Amino acid sequence: MNLEITSFKDYKRIYDYSIAEPEKFWEGIADTYYWRKKWHTVLEWNFKDPSIKWFQGAKLNITENCLDRHLEKEGDRTAIIWEPNDPEEHYRKLTYKELHFKVCQFANALKNNGTKKGDCICIYMPMVPELAIAVLACARIGAVHSVVFGGFSAQSIADRINDAQCSLVITADGGFRGNKDIPLKNVIDDALVQCHSVQKVIVLTRNRTPVSMIKGRDVWWEDEIKKVETQGNPACLAEEMDAEDELFILYTSGSTGKPKGVVHTCGGYMVYVGYTFKTVFQYQPDEVFFCTADIGWITGHSYIVYGPLSQGATTLLFEGIPTWPDAGRFWDIVEKHQANILYTAPTAIRSLMSFGDEPLKGKNLSSLKKLGSVGEPINEEAWHWFDEKIGKKNCPVVDTWWQTETSGIMISPIARITPTKPGYATLPLPGIQPCLVDENGKEIEGNGVSGNLCIKFPWPGIIRTTYGDHERCRTAYFATYENMYFTGDGCLRDEDGYYRITGRVDDVINVSGHRIGTAEVENAINMHADVIESAVVGYPHDIKGQGIYAYVILGSSIHAHDLTRKNILQTVSRIIGAIAKPDKIQFVSGLPKTRSGKIMRRILRKIAEGETSNLGDTSTLLDPNVVEEIKSGSLFS
Ligand code: WTA
Repeated sequence: MNLEITSFKDYKRIYDYSIAEPEKFWEGIADTYYWRKKWHTVLEWNFKDPSIKWFQGAKLNITENCLDRHLEKEGDRTAIIWEPNDPEEHYRKLTYKELHFKVCQFANALKNNGTKKGDCICIYMPMVPELAIAVLACARIGAVHSVVFGGFSAQSIADRINDAQCSLVITADGGFRGNKDIPLKNVIDDALVQCHSVQKVIVLTRNRTPVSMIKGRDVWWEDEIKKVETQGNPACLAEEMDAEDELFILYTSGSTGKPKGVVHTCGGYMVYVGYTFKTVFQYQPDEVFFCTADIGWITGHSYIVYGPLSQGATTLLFEGIPTWPDAGRFWDIVEKHQANILYTAPTAIRSLMSFGDEPLKGKNLSSLKKLGSVGEPINEEAWHWFDEKIGKKNCPVVDTWWQTETSGIMISPIARITPTKPGYATLPLPGIQPCLVDENGKEIEGNGVSGNLCIKFPWPGIIRTTYGDHERCRTAYFATYENMYFTGDGCLRDEDGYYRITGRVDDVINVSGHRIGTAEVENAINMHADVIESAVVGYPHDIKGQGIYAYVILGSSIHAHDLTRKNILQTVSRIIGAIAKPDKIQFVSGLPKTRSGKIMRRILRKIAEGETSNLGDTSTLLDPNVVEEIKSGSLFS
């Protein structure tokens, strides 16, 4: 069966085949990769435990697919283009040969520092090529990487390092983001006070901020590379991995207080991200792919590093932010590096849109051929702006729906093939079987219906477990509805069978495309000495998609004033990171609770949205007066 999709008719035919013969379909996709040894069983699964195993018996190393296999014919092709934060600093380009060399070199440095197959490595770095090199070097030697986004606090890093018992940390002295210096090594030093598993810290030089290097523990990246050079730069043979060996852990927020370590494995992850990258973006050789995400999130893992490199693509990595030195930065980068595909987030689009047309003047965007969006629902206005002002109505816009747990794109148009509809992620990719269910777990058939989005059948990139706590994986994703993976998203399927994701139905808020658990923020707020209790909800925010609204009860002797508010924000920054700071704080004397003590968030959500008249049924409240007080209360923001 030819799995190439060149028309909408092909899509439908291949989709039907992928559902009728899923194992044959995925085997056909997997055959396009390099395996040291092929599988004896394509798939073995049950969603009850859950236990999902793809390509059992197969042996591989993902870096041989991302690097080695391109060397002979495409070794001189550019693998990574790096655009620094400061446009005055020189950009860098690495060919596949150079990237391969550097990955092997750093992999040897990791070995010299005691890293072995199966060890877990924490990576906390700025968006520089060395971050991609560090990730790939771990994969090269079979170490499991856990990348932590540079915006997380010392406490969050410590929690993640301890959860996975990381033996080594890779970081940098600091990083640049817009006009800010980020003191990465200092944050790591604060984190490590609480972490006893870490033996070594490798520190890359980036912003030359003063750092304290601890004897016996901390070493410089550059020195370690020199050591490898004096050893004669031995090649670093790729470790042979089982398809189901762990490739990485990535922490993400859920409904409960503690972030979960989502685990992905070598074979299935590789097959899935390469397939989705090639299919959705219809990637053609020599196209420059610009994904504006950070490697600290799943989008960066899958569509800056592994997806593009597995397909021999040229991937553009940008260190800075869209609005610095001005709101034309993305467009300068597109023009400078002749980017052909731009993959970004609705929040970035809305933010740039708010600057009007001025930043677009004089920018040549004619290299662009395809546009993509990810991370949150894209509103129609932003979709049209992207389509008209950036794509000049010549570039298909692919609104890609997926999650950290799915590892790659699940529901999305295929560029130039699927007819698009603003605000719609459209149709599932071949191999993906979505369904909508009602509260009782009954599947809702037919079109023109809404429900909770589930997936009925495994795909190679599906989450395998949550690190160190398999039961948590089961209850979070596989226990809500029998025999289905539950996404946590609400969804509408229109008359044409097109899917539109309407947002989270659990206690997760999506702030600028970052997933934040309300319970996590509440825990952080409650750490503040003056706070008795708090309740956090999301509310619609023009740029961020959702903002964070916190209702806070202070101790009886505490007076609410602006400093109290700032102290609470500071506490949240310390405990989680600046990304989780509430946008609005309202001090209240009580929270609406049911007689059994459950906070009625539905009511708080409505008030946060500005709705005060139609609050629904409040008859089960313990004290309905609380609602009146909250409605008339004043806000500190
Ligand atoms: C949301 C990011 C609407 C959704 C790749 C999901 C989206 C969560 C879209 C996962 C989209 C992602 N339209 N909503 N195209 N893409 N989401 O794990 O709520 O950071 O559950 O993965 O983002 O966020 P995560």
